[in-house]
Amino acid sequence: MGISYNEKSRSFKLDAKDTSYIMAVVDEENFLGHVYFGERIPDEDVNYLMRLEEPPFVPSKNNRDRMSFLDSFPTEYPTFGLGDFRESCLKVNTKSGMTAVGINYVSHKIYKGKPKLQGLPATFGSKEECTTLEITCVDKHLKLEVILIYTVFENLDAITRSVRIKNNSDEDIQLTRVLSACVDFDRMDMDVLTIHGSWARERHLNRRSVTYGKQAIGSTRGESSHQMNPFLAVMDKTSTEDDGEVYGFNFVYSGNFLAQAEGCQFDTTRVVMGINPEDFAWRLQPGEEFTAPEVVMIYSNEGIGKMSRTFHDLYRNHLIRGQYKDKKRPILINNWEATYFDFNTEKLLNIAKEASKLGVEMLVMDDGWFGNRNSDNCALGDWVVNEEKIQGGLKYLVDEVNKLGMKFGIWFEPEMISPDSDLYRAHPDWCIHIEGRVGTLCRNQYVLDLSRKEVRDYIYESLREILLSANIEYVKWDMNRQLSDVGNNILPAGCQREIWHRYVLGVYELMDRLTSEFPHILLENCSGGGARFDPGMLYYSPQIWASDNTDAIERLKIQHGTSMVYPVSAIGSHVSDCPNHTVGRVTPFETRGLVALSGTFGYELDVTRISQEDRDMIPKQIEMYHKYNDLIRKGDLYRIGNIFEKPQFDCVEYVAKDKSEVLVVYIQVLSRPNYHSRRIRLKGLQKDAYYRNEETNEVYSGAALMNAGILIKGLWGDFTGKLYHYIRV
Ligand code: DGJ
Repeated sequence: MGISYNEKSRSFKLDAKDTSYIMAVVDEENFLGHVYFGERIPDEDVNYLMRLEEPPFVPSKNNRDRMSFLDSFPTEYPTFGLGDFRESCLKVNTKSGMTAVGINYVSHKIYKGKPKLQGLPATFGSKEECTTLEITCVDKHLKLEVILIYTVFENLDAITRSVRIKNNSDEDIQLTRVLSACVDFDRMDMDVLTIHGSWARERHLNRRSVTYGKQAIGSTRGESSHQMNPFLAVMDKTSTEDDGEVYGFNFVYSGNFLAQAEGCQFDTTRVVMGINPEDFAWRLQPGEEFTAPEVVMIYSNEGIGKMSRTFHDLYRNHLIRGQYKDKKRPILINNWEATYFDFNTEKLLNIAKEASKLGVEMLVMDDGWFGNRNSDNCALGDWVVNEEKIQGGLKYLVDEVNKLGMKFGIWFEPEMISPDSDLYRAHPDWCIHIEGRVGTLCRNQYVLDLSRKEVRDYIYESLREILLSANIEYVKWDMNRQLSDVGNNILPAGCQREIWHRYVLGVYELMDRLTSEFPHILLENCSGGGARFDPGMLYYSPQIWASDNTDAIERLKIQHGTSMVYPVSAIGSHVSDCPNHTVGRVTPFETRGLVALSGTFGYELDVTRISQEDRDMIPKQIEMYHKYNDLIRKGDLYRIGNIFEKPQFDCVEYVAKDKSEVLVVYIQVLSRPNYHSRRIRLKGLQKDAYYRNEETNEVYSGAALMNAGILIKGLWGDFTGKLYHYIRV
């Protein structure tokens, strides 16, 4: 049993694979407190850690100093306004204008399996894999019920959390803050790791000390964003890639979020995560419920690397769904960087013909095939094929591509509307807007109000018609701006702030409809590159375009940061032409292929116009993809070189789950004068097994490869790459 309740100590013990998480109900007033989170321990009762006998006394013993208790107690789900001045998770606005909430334990239930979260993406698991605990707490004054939901995965070091709030009063209660998780760590000597970025340089790492006050990241952009990813980890200051305790938190949501580590007065750290309270409000009518999105908590006692591998296993097996979940993805060629808006049937077919000869398996037609879209200034919303460009129609094009033995994929940006579009001319109020105010444009477009059912229905029907009109087997779902001017002329004033969350729920509903009606379609999410690379999106699409930056060297950083949390199988990665369109760098074609291998792999170039030498390399790269993709997609990732720390090289290793095979991808970034070889030590192998280098046939023990290492020789030239494949003998 992964979860137990000890009647005597009134404590809950959640056991994941090698992790324990303990809470206890204390005092006559039934406060629910956090006791322990870390390596698995056998004891059920560790309440001696709760400091209940020392000042500040618990309320039943010394209520004259109640605030001292509330402001220091490691509360499991802190609420606003009664004397806990650290970050709170729950705040309201009642009819009489009151904001305080105080909750106490009432009951609980433990059951096998994991419940779905209504309308929200979430991890899933069977009754054999998961156990769930629901703790009901109540604010008697407000008649507000707060149900804290925990699920443990018994074979992974993963615990998920969510919260359901129910209004049992006979008045409306407005929720103005509902975070999904809080953990009070009884220490402050930790570092906090977050992932930040911008367009074309997504998911770079930032590590700093936890110190007094709030170290917060978040998004108020309506999407998880290029700028901050909904991930935060706290860890020992000495933790490295391979050693030390690390606690990773990831929010399964694609909109505004807050993730924060707060150093508090008694040298404790409060970590919270959830929907960003900035501009959030949700009206709960009597009897209604609100469900907060899920937070995933991962514990690792073997450094950052093990945390990442646990996230990868959890997401590959318990989040990503659909027919491509465990499948090798077709190698695609996308025409964006090849043609931008300047294409027609002939150009696309020429690319497809050449690509099919080289072994490419799918043609993806990107932005520009609909309405009068010849630039990014117009036509979003007009999902009608432009037959001046797609001469002969879409079906003809798809059939011709299919005749070449290739699949066909298509680009949409369903959430957007151009002011210069037939849709806008017909429904100017369908975009998110503030009545009477000129809306802020971004890429010359507005955001459709997907909180409205009629808008969602219209968009879905337009997409559906296109998808039914030809044999389309892949969709790239793009989203190229953030939300601003948030309002509409539909919801009452008191519900206007709900639009942020209703929008995200609307996006999820659309993706749910799409993936249910067209289960054979491979969906790839994208948001101006990688602005929505989050677990919410992974629930609907097994892969996400990582960045518009396709430069192999920049990609090393982006892919390194992305792999902190997200599996390599989900990272959309293509070989593009040089000089690179974003940074102007020239890298060898071979290296571009090696870097794209650590992702879904594909091409984004005009294969009819690249040099013969580069073209000749494509079949070899494709052979390499077919040979290694199973290992890369399903294996364990070990990061060996980190170009954030040492800009000279990057190195990753993929080890088969049964340790029978290992692939090492080494990229020499900056050459060092008079330095021609480098020793690196492999990781994660079977110590007492022997491994044969496939190229040289040399055989060494796992122990030697891990402790003594391998020699990377012939380090000559920047941006060069090498591959080493070892097979257990
Ligand atoms: C942004 C995407 O990231 C690109 O790959 C491309 O699809 C463009 N949008 C098209 O407008």
